[in-house]
Amino acid sequence: MEKTFLMVKPDGVQRQLIGEIVSRFERKGLQLVGAKLMTISEDLAQQHYGEHKGKPFYGELVEFITSGPVFAMVWQGENVVELTRKMMGKTNPKDADPGTIRGDYCMNVGQNIIHGSDSPESADREIALFFNESELVGYDKSI
Ligand code: CMP
Repeated sequence: MEKTFLMVKPDGVQRQLIGEIVSRFERKGLQLVGAKLMTISEDLAQQHYGEHKGKPFYGELVEFITSGPVFAMVWQGENVVELTRKMMGKTNPKDADPGTIRGDYCMNVGQNIIHGSDSPESADREIALFFNESELVGYDKSI
């Protein structure tokens, strides 16, 4: 089953949107297989956002993502990477459609509530950065 890495960013945690966001993915039919509240170290932030190193907003991005707790998650389901990106909406909330998470809850590209992997390959890399295999659970098909 395809998996993806999703993270409620510090703005989403402080605005108490974790429940709302988890609820949207659960109601869609996706399965939450790992989750934790954590504060990201500078080192982890640099590894996670390595592809953005050198961009003008990189410093701001690392500073923001390490500024307070995040809610890191692993979700699974058919086509989960593409589906969750659709549900999150465009990276810049100004372009995100109403009905998407970013379209409904934020205004600023630097504080856009949620991060999600952009491909199955990124998902594998990001899941491995944030979670040990032992922190992920399976689902009982009989329930
Ligand atoms: P995310 O999906 O976490 O991946 C990289 C992040 O960089 C992105 O969401 C935005 O929050 C952030 N970002 C992208 N473009 C800009 C920008 N022009 N200014 C500030 N932050 C940006």
